[in-house]
Amino acid sequence: MTKEERYKSLLPQVKSLCEGETDMIAKMANVAALLHSEFGFWWTGFYRVVPIMNCEFRNSNFNNQNSELILGPFQGPIACVHIAYGRGVCGTAWKERRTLVVPDVEAFPGHIACSTESRSEIVVPVMAGSEVVAVLDIDSRELSTFDDTDRRELEELVKLIP
Ligand code: SME
Repeated sequence: MTKEERYKSLLPQVKSLCEGETDMIAKMANVAALLHSEFGFWWTGFYRVVPIMNCEFRNSNFNNQNSELILGPFQGPIACVHIAYGRGVCGTAWKERRTLVVPDVEAFPGHIACSTESRSEIVVPVMAGSEVVAVLDIDSRELSTFDDTDRRELEELVKLIP
């Protein structure tokens, strides 16, 4: 089976796990488990966009700078809990509202190394309408694991999360 076929074969399962379920964290948990076991990635999980409750408000607008990424459901080794807007691969994907495919994490300025084993990475924003509500982050122990097929298929898959 090609990588594309493997992703496509997961889609009905993801649909049945997500359809009718309103709890986003539960959906993230099952999707992370499914991707992780199917592909054997090093780390597979979600970071959610969460308001920083103790920040000072200069006005009533709740913008991205008043939120951060917080570790959500994942499979793999322990990971950092808080990631600021625009920081690391995850915070950059959130800020730029687009998928980032990183063939070599050491070449990505500001990459946050939760694990020294991680060599390449893909981060896919989870959109609810025009809002980024979370990111899907997948790490590999090999260089250049992810390509345009992963980007396209994962972007399709995360549409079922919100
Ligand atoms: N490498 C990520 C941090 C999260 S861990 O990889 C699980 C980043 O640079 O944002």
